[in-house]
Amino acid sequence: MISRKLLTARAYEENAEQLILEEERPAFHLSPRTGWMNDPNGFSRYGGLYHMFYQYYPYEARWGLMHWGHAVSEDLLHWTYLPVALAADSEFDKDGCFSGSAATLPDGRQLLMYTGVVLEIQSDGSTKEIQQQCLAVGDGTEYVKYEGNPVLTERDLPEGSDRFDFRDPKIWKRPDGTWRCIVGNRHQKDSSRILMFESEDGFHWKWKKVLADNRFRFGRMWECPDFFELDGKWVLLTSPQDMLPQGFEYHNGNGTLCLIGSFDEETETFVEESNQAVDYGIDFYAMQTLLTEDGRRVMIGWMQNWDTCTPNTAQRKWFGQMSLPRELSIKNGRLCQAPIRELQTLRKNEVRHEDVRVSGRVELDGVSGRKAELILELQVQDPEVFRKFTVCFAENEHFHTNLSYRPHEGTLKIDRKFSGSRRAVIHQRRTKVYPENGILKLHLILDRFSAEVFVNDGQQTMTCTLYTDLSAEGISFSCDGGEARISVTKWELS
Ligand code: FRU
Repeated sequence: MISRKLLTARAYEENAEQLILEEERPAFHLSPRTGWMNDPNGFSRYGGLYHMFYQYYPYEARWGLMHWGHAVSEDLLHWTYLPVALAADSEFDKDGCFSGSAATLPDGRQLLMYTGVVLEIQSDGSTKEIQQQCLAVGDGTEYVKYEGNPVLTERDLPEGSDRFDFRDPKIWKRPDGTWRCIVGNRHQKDSSRILMFESEDGFHWKWKKVLADNRFRFGRMWECPDFFELDGKWVLLTSPQDMLPQGFEYHNGNGTLCLIGSFDEETETFVEESNQAVDYGIDFYAMQTLLTEDGRRVMIGWMQNWDTCTPNTAQRKWFGQMSLPRELSIKNGRLCQAPIRELQTLRKNEVRHEDVRVSGRVELDGVSGRKAELILELQVQDPEVFRKFTVCFAENEHFHTNLSYRPHEGTLKIDRKFSGSRRAVIHQRRTKVYPENGILKLHLILDRFSAEVFVNDGQQTMTCTLYTDLSAEGISFSCDGGEARISVTKWELS
């Protein structure tokens, strides 16, 4: 039986969606059907389609009682909304259905594993969230919560684990038919661990081991873990809260972390070899991956960050977007990202400018737009006198967003101060970049309200959202001190 809460949410979203015009949304990034969206959940392939569920509060564009929104796609770029999949309608999740993942059962049904939240009143009168792992089983549209819920509770936690921060299960089936899941868990007061659990059938779970230990290094609680093999290595992705900055690598607050290492499949032991941030821009968090049928590891993140969500989002019709799906690889020991290749099917009206000399400011014929893809190769002429190269986009007399490269610092900065924000949140961020043979390559993708930059074939990415009026669609290039040579290829995306 479908609960009243789920029916109400479904009826609400069907109506509210009508109030949002197509051009008020991104064109090829997923946004919530209505209201609020955060983390990607249950990103998977099922029944011949890609499925994306998401943290969802349909009733207002602010975080609230968490549902799982649902959309499907054939190409990861055009999405069709399906009815809300999960509502907080059961005793084990009455205060929210938090993040989780999806897998296919041997009998063909889809299994969702998520965190059920229940508020508990403490002896001092305050309330705290009890977080437990729960299951739902479905056919790709309708999901029924498992009668044995919750399947992982505080009783399954090892010594020293906190029962209030225990969330975001990522589930997978192993080649031998058994199941594993990993869950983020606060450990002691200020650190966290990724815990691994095992199951024979996907329904009955027990504690296995600690997969990775933060050891107070990267923020406090590690949220939304994912773990997979990639190019002969193993990768653990997670999104730490409360980070302290480390050089240009990690910034304060909510961040992203990629640990690359080896994994002994016999003993299930992960040995870390290196760490890096996943995205160096402003808005990227809680990423999740899937494996496509042709063997590509594809990652999507929430194209937002808790620290930069403005407090007045509720005035909007919708808030929150997913990033572009990105193909992952490891090159020279680093995680690299490329825009999903399906994006090329949206390209129209190619414009090319080869070897243009820039001193001062130039605009190039045919190079403008807010749904656009631009590949720019840049060579600085005289590094001694050269100060700064800037590409400006979403530009008119009032607005602009900048990417600026300072060769003497070896940094690239994204600056969206003039992008329509009326809040005093972070609007700039920098990363180190490493030109190859003197050439810096910037691959920029714009989709109305966002910019994603892939630097040097995805060695770094910088992502941010924009609030700029859509009439600001100029793109320009400028040099401060000296001269640069640029080659630009640009497409409209539609
Ligand atoms: C990450 C997160 C998750 C949690 C969800 C709640 O952004 O805090 O840890 O499950 O959001 O909406």
